[in-house]
Amino acid sequence: MKERKDVYKLPAGDTTLEWYSKAVIEMKKRPTRDPRSWNYQAGMHGFNANLFWWQGKGPFPSPGDQQNFWNQCQHGSWFFLPWHRMYLAYFEQIVGQTIVDLGGPKDWALPFWNYSDTSNPKARVMPAAFTNPGNATNGLWMEGRQSTTIPERYVALTALNTLPFTGDGRSSPLGFGGPETSFSHSGGTHGALESLPHDLVHVAIGGAMGDPRAAALDPIFWVHHANIDRLWQVWLNMGHRTDPKKASWLKFAFKFHDKSGAEVEMISSAVEDTRKVLTGYTYQGVAPSGPALSRGGLEIEADLSTPLQVVAATNETLTLGGPKTSVSLSLPETMQKRENAPVSRGGTVAAKKTFLHFENVTGRGIPPIHDVYLNVPENAENTDSYYAGSISFFGVEDASTPSLHQAGSGQHFALDITDLMNRLRALPGWDEQKLTVNLVPTQPMTDDNFVKIGRISIYSE
Ligand code: C2O
Repeated sequence: MKERKDVYKLPAGDTTLEWYSKAVIEMKKRPTRDPRSWNYQAGMHGFNANLFWWQGKGPFPSPGDQQNFWNQCQHGSWFFLPWHRMYLAYFEQIVGQTIVDLGGPKDWALPFWNYSDTSNPKARVMPAAFTNPGNATNGLWMEGRQSTTIPERYVALTALNTLPFTGDGRSSPLGFGGPETSFSHSGGTHGALESLPHDLVHVAIGGAMGDPRAAALDPIFWVHHANIDRLWQVWLNMGHRTDPKKASWLKFAFKFHDKSGAEVEMISSAVEDTRKVLTGYTYQGVAPSGPALSRGGLEIEADLSTPLQVVAATNETLTLGGPKTSVSLSLPETMQKRENAPVSRGGTVAAKKTFLHFENVTGRGIPPIHDVYLNVPENAENTDSYYAGSISFFGVEDASTPSLHQAGSGQHFALDITDLMNRLRALPGWDEQKLTVNLVPTQPMTDDNFVKIGRISIYSE
């Protein structure tokens, strides 16, 4: 049994990162067509020959191999968590074997980057081994990253409060793990954990990490994903939470290569318990199994009293640009009354949930993260108390391109604005007929970027 350790708690003299770096350099020497090569492993996640990061890395696998093994990453799907767990397990096995072949230890395990650890003042800074030295002698360095410090709001763990694993993000709530889909390389609606922190950490780092078709070329990808994988267990351990029970999730199989390069298959039910994944692993500081209810309990279908309904929506497509993009929505007169009528949820009285939706979001390139604010006064010096959340557009170009795997109708984002709306209603000058949504880019849009939002809407119970 391996233990995946916190990258910031590795003891002095620990060689985990040193060996990781050596293995990356070794795997980069293998031809891209070799399943055990660095590039092949990254191509399994996503690939596009036109992207800068793939220049000069050919010859690429045959069309048949690409069809079967490349561009497999599951996004906007309830397979997001199991697929990435399988992907990491085989990758860890291949890196581990490479390290043994180089004369290193037999028990190498992928460390995780816990950027949300509030007890660690450096938590949101990329570990130094990945940035220094900043050149190719360092296997963990990657050219073109935009930033190596993640802003605090992009590492919030609100996803852990989401009870259901599955949700469609529209009429039913945003699930922790993502909506029910079949194979979904580039699905439109990302689950709660996938949206925050997963997607935002990707795009905040930027460069290759900002695009699913190049992200796994950056060695930080894997320690980021070890953390996302760890959070799946943290969530289960909180109780009243359980994995999907449907056979269409449990038995769905994905293809990988093992450490000998041989083709293998794995199904979701084989990765529910980390101790049973290949030779098994646990996470430092995390119990490997949650309360009894987590496994075998009833699956929670929804944590809302009634399905969500659209109560307001824009009727024109919006194109993002400039220092901010603003749009106004008019809520129906009955809205405030609805909102104030409490609902009963699991025996407790709760406020009705309200979500702000961004639908059919299509785009090009790697657009900057946009922070979303509601009703910011003209003269506001500090906008923090009007902050509704952020949208990352991770994978938007793929999601906008019709292909074998997706319709190309774009992405869908939902922000829970229940608390913010309640606070706004209490402020002087509140007007139910006029809610202003501001989208503020965290970096300027460039000529390579483009984002169009089909509709902005408000869904409420
Ligand atoms: Cu498949 Cu973090 O991406």
